[in-house]
Amino acid sequence: GGQRALIRESWRRVSGSPVQHGLVLFTRLFDLDPDLLPLFQYNCKQFASPQECLSAPEFLDHIRKVMVVIDAAVSHLENLSCLEEYLCNLGKKHQAVGVKAESFSTVGESLLYMLEKCLGAAFSPEVQEAWSKLYNSVVKAMQRGWET
Ligand code: HEM
Repeated sequence: GGQRALIRESWRRVSGSPVQHGLVLFTRLFDLDPDLLPLFQYNCKQFASPQECLSAPEFLDHIRKVMVVIDAAVSHLENLSCLEEYLCNLGKKHQAVGVKAESFSTVGESLLYMLEKCLGAAFSPEVQEAWSKLYNSVVKAMQRGWET
């Protein structure tokens, strides 16, 4: 349908430079909820500031991982259900590192913020609606990981 075409077109403009756009997303996320920063620890070391986190190679790898998951969702718009089990397990891993299921709504806000910055005038209400729906299905599948 039309929503799927909007998603594919808009993702093409983001996915060419995933780290650059992921940095916009996570910079916004730490602005909205600084308490998420301590959840990112590599070798038990805590970051002193968002800036330090946003420039750490391990964190840039996490950005790449996030973008790969979104890319998989965009490639499976017709059959998101085949990602259910993977996403449920991914949810469990996030529960294990101390992420609260509710924090994914702040991630969603930050995703829309990043898309707006990247797409400019092309970020229409229809594009926003299409992305909200897709993101909500991904999060719904991940949140199953908190239930079981
Ligand atoms: C792994 C935190 C959101 C995808 C991790 C890890 C942490 C973490 C601490 C383990 C270390 C690492 O691999 O870097 C968070 C926090 C988030 C968040 C605090 C926001 C509140 C997301 C989102 C996605 C995602 C939205 C994708 C939609 C992944 C993937 C892994 C991962 C694919 C690797 C899992 C594996 O090792 O199999 N996350 N994450 N994360 N995260 Fe996140």
